[in-house]
Amino acid sequence: MISTTPSPAAFTASGPLTGRVRVPGDKSISHRSLMLSALAVGRSTVRGLLEGEDVLATAAAMRAMGATIVRGDDGVWTIHGVGVGGLLQPQAALDMGNSGTSTRLLMGLVASHPITATFTGDASLSGRPMGRVIDPLGLMGADITSSPGGRLPLMVRGMCPAVPIEYRLPMASAQVKSAVLLAGLNTPGITRVIEPIATRDHSERMLTGFGADLTVEIDSDGARVISIRGEAELKPQDIVVPGDPSSAAFPMVAALLVPGSDVVIENVGINPTRAGLIEVLQAMGGDITLINERVVGGEPVADLHVRHSPLNGIEVDPAIAPSMIDEFPILFVAAALANGRTVTRGLEELRVKESDRIALMAQGLAAIGARVIEAEDGLIIDGTGGEPLPGGAPVAAKLDHRIAMSFAVAGLVSAANVMVDDMTPVATSFPQFASLMTSLGAQIS
Ligand code: S3P
Repeated sequence: MISTTPSPAAFTASGPLTGRVRVPGDKSISHRSLMLSALAVGRSTVRGLLEGEDVLATAAAMRAMGATIVRGDDGVWTIHGVGVGGLLQPQAALDMGNSGTSTRLLMGLVASHPITATFTGDASLSGRPMGRVIDPLGLMGADITSSPGGRLPLMVRGMCPAVPIEYRLPMASAQVKSAVLLAGLNTPGITRVIEPIATRDHSERMLTGFGADLTVEIDSDGARVISIRGEAELKPQDIVVPGDPSSAAFPMVAALLVPGSDVVIENVGINPTRAGLIEVLQAMGGDITLINERVVGGEPVADLHVRHSPLNGIEVDPAIAPSMIDEFPILFVAAALANGRTVTRGLEELRVKESDRIALMAQGLAAIGARVIEAEDGLIIDGTGGEPLPGGAPVAAKLDHRIAMSFAVAGLVSAANVMVDDMTPVATSFPQFASLMTSLGAQIS
């Protein structure tokens, strides 16, 4: 898990970024690969798994509940599953580290098994709301005792058989949707999730790929209605995980911002429920070309050719937010260098991520000289029109990998160094960040 010793780093104005790189595997798909393989009957393999701390926390938890999970010397992971309904009682608390996805999805799995599990996490995760999964899982019969405010540490006592529910999501959250669907896997009958605003659909795609009986319909209000038949038997799969678009976002924006840059990022997932940032940056004038589009492991993938471009401020349509929910911190950095004003709204969910991303980005950007106004549900940013930011200030990452990486990129286009107080959280999702950025020409010390 994350080392407790902070690791500060300084990011410095850099010359053109050039080269071809590959970002690590998609975090959302990596978590689900391990969970679903662990519930299949037989041997699955996973290539391209993200070997970041969040995913390793999921692997450790699935092992603690009976699955055999081994990494081969060739980097291929092999999983022997226990079958739906076959999870064993873990003998110790499950340490989820920094990972909200591990916590919420695994709570769903435990909720419909005849086992009890305690979930713990780091300071960031222990401050995040779990009521959003406690509520539906409670309706299914699970008995959940949490710390005050629906926080970690908490204990889930599963109910078996659980009760199938029809649940309308009160917020746009793929984690909540997935927690209910995963609980539904071991629940008799049909469990249904109604999703008024579409979020990433990896759970639906992968459950179908593993042989679950899952349907998606659109109701008369345009909401997605996802139904899963429980007591499923999942068939083992050979999975190839595409590159994470949320990690690709950092070299992508860096290449747009640093004059003279020309970068290709290979093998990036472009699932429409994840690709909002590309669309927004293109609308701002970003020169991003998708080449070699193909399908890898049931997900659309492309190589992204990105060249430095002057960007224009934009009003970001709140409807696109779910398809780029993790990319707003780095979009704010792009906006800080754009020509004119960028307005973002409808981003309340950003306040309950690994940190309060609206507040932290507003504070950090102001500290390094950007013109930013903080609203309750977004930021308004007046860009420099391509001039470097002043920089020259320390910024706090507060255990949030995407805040750390966003300010690292800001440092590459600042007149004076940007000092990020702690880069250790980057290991949760993108352990190779510093070496990859250095290989493109970024100055880091
Ligand atoms: C994720 C869903 C999103 C996202 C997170 C990963 C997932 O969270 O922010 O990084 O894998 O399902 P929410 O469900 O809270 O929006």
